Amino acid sequence: MLLNRRLQVRASSAVLACVAALGACAPAAGVSAAQADTAPAPAAAQMVSLPRDIHSFARPDEARVSHVSVDLRADFQARTLGGTATLDVQAAPGAREIVLDTRDLDIQRVTDGSGRPLQWALGTADSVLGVPLTVQLPQGTRRIAIHYRTSPEAGALQWLTPEQTAGKRQPFLFSQGQAILTRTWIPTQDSPGIRQTYDARITVPAGLTAVMSADMLTPQGEAAEGGRAFRFRLDTPIPPYLIALAVGDLAFRATGPRTGVWTEPSVLDRAANEMAELEKFVDAAEALYGPYRWGRYDVLVLPPSFPFGGMENPRLTFATPTMLAGDRSLVSLIAHELAHSWSGNLVTNATWSDFWLNEGFTTYFENRIMEALYGRERATMLADLGWQHLQTAIQDAGGMQHADTRLHIDLAGRDPDAGMTEIPYEKGATFLRTLEEAVGRARWDAYLRSYFDRHAFKPMTTETFLADLRANLLRGDAALEQRLMLDEWVNGTGIPANAVRRESGAFARVEAQAQRFLAGTPASQLAGTAQWTTQEWQHFLGALPRGLTAAQLGDLDRAFRLSEQGNSEILFAWLQIAVRHRYEPAMPALERFLTSQGRRKFVRPLFTSLMAEGEWGQALARRIYAQARPGYHPLTVGSVDEVVRM
Ligand code: BES
Ligand code: ZN
Repeated sequence: MLLNRRLQVRASSAVLACVAALGACAPAAGVSAAQADTAPAPAAAQMVSLPRDIHSFARPDEARVSHVSVDLRADFQARTLGGTATLDVQAAPGAREIVLDTRDLDIQRVTDGSGRPLQWALGTADSVLGVPLTVQLPQGTRRIAIHYRTSPEAGALQWLTPEQTAGKRQPFLFSQGQAILTRTWIPTQDSPGIRQTYDARITVPAGLTAVMSADMLTPQGEAAEGGRAFRFRLDTPIPPYLIALAVGDLAFRATGPRTGVWTEPSVLDRAANEMAELEKFVDAAEALYGPYRWGRYDVLVLPPSFPFGGMENPRLTFATPTMLAGDRSLVSLIAHELAHSWSGNLVTNATWSDFWLNEGFTTYFENRIMEALYGRERATMLADLGWQHLQTAIQDAGGMQHADTRLHIDLAGRDPDAGMTEIPYEKGATFLRTLEEAVGRARWDAYLRSYFDRHAFKPMTTETFLADLRANLLRGDAALEQRLMLDEWVNGTGIPANAVRRESGAFARVEAQAQRFLAGTPASQLAGTAQWTTQEWQHFLGALPRGLTAAQLGDLDRAFRLSEQGNSEILFAWLQIAVRHRYEPAMPALERFLTSQGRRKFVRPLFTSLMAEGEWGQALARRIYAQARPGYHPLTVGSVDEVVRM
């Protein structure tokens, strides 16, 4: 079918396809008319290939990387990774060069597979994309080796001092590739549509362990000059944003035959307890949408500066320690990252404008895993919270008419980070829930499962998803298609009228208690609070209006010990209220929270709220940020710098 063919990037049509879209090719420059003339004309069916990724300099239709092999040494003093990246290259007939993405790399030389020097040049730097590296490919060149070193400021890497870890004795390093940061530590074609297999040899100081999003070939490491070397291999082709590395004082504990937890030794008990049901998560996900295709599923719990909740690195999810609540109440985060093993890692957004295909599908799938494991009520509460977050995200984006509330978002000239709001997550999930209700769960689940099979290990565009949906789910049912409002969902702004909302009955009861509190009932006399789950607390706190009195805030704080909360989500919701009411007694807790973890989702909104509170909040924000900033990840620093002007 047409669908499959459209997605294939045919080498023979390559150069011409690129020239046909000359505007798109131009920035990286280099295809001369003479080269283009030598390329064969494309057959009609091959005319449409993948859309160009505006966030990469690569021209994969001419020459593309199929395998990455890195041999790198981690230097914790210099804060650099140095060594070689050896790339397997597939070139179209007539292609004389390959263009790679780089950023802040110190490139020493480039050779072919046998060590013969190749000509190379760095192009003009772009503030969002970095710098293109163009390497000449003499006839028959299939492999190129780039000798390089990363910058201490590499955007993907955070080098932690021992003090920034749980154990306080060893340094730590981790990478974060999504969206366009892999190019700051590996020179390759850094586009989600260009899948690559990889292997690695990572040399680290003695006493440290390296882990990667790959098969660990040497779990104990091997003696190597100046330390130990760890080797890895992933034979499943992945988009380069999923290549991931962490180095530190790491220990492992199995949670089942194919699952386990990695973290610092002093965190291992807590992490293993929180993750005790990991094996069941994988079983539940498979029962929904087909086999888990990555072998093992392990979770690495990082030091507290990890800027995200989780990152779906294949075989090894990276997770924040702020999800260790002690009662497994925040494990939907793991369901989410696991779900990406299908939506994202198996079927991958072709460009960052299609990001909702990764996150919306995953948010939907996450909720289905939660329902399978913990029942309908818990899943409904989570979906309801998601709906509320969507409303806030739409407001923050500029309202229902704003172009950035589209699922298929226009990122021309922008950093893909601009599209990474809760809109692709929650509007995307709501869209899929709407589809589910329209056709019934059985039919929807069968469709989704077949979708993952049909498109496994391939990139997906919004347009191709819609075509697949029409061909395999709607099958010409015009009345159904009419009701679904597909085009409005993906290209329209705001929330379409047919959106399905899941409302929680438990939340209605929580709201009734919030009303009683506002009407004067003391906090300690509210009904049912002893049994409330984390999600009910989140809803309760979210339901409180502005304009609470200091007495009311003190009553809440004392009755529920909110400022002493160990649960990061509840504490975050409480601190937002405290800041907005300038409730001084909670400020030590705020300071502790902001200086003890660097999760962007918590940190940026709290600083934003502080800055909105006049001189009082701004002075506090500046003082706390000056203290916290050195410990934050570059990504968190980047987004808080936009908010707190020192
Ligand atoms: N893939 C994302 C994280 C991400 C997105 C990193 C965009 C860089 C750019 C991950 O799956 C994710 O969505 N994490 C969420 C947690 C999740 C439970 C919603 C997060 O980190 O908050
Ligand atoms: Zn995600």
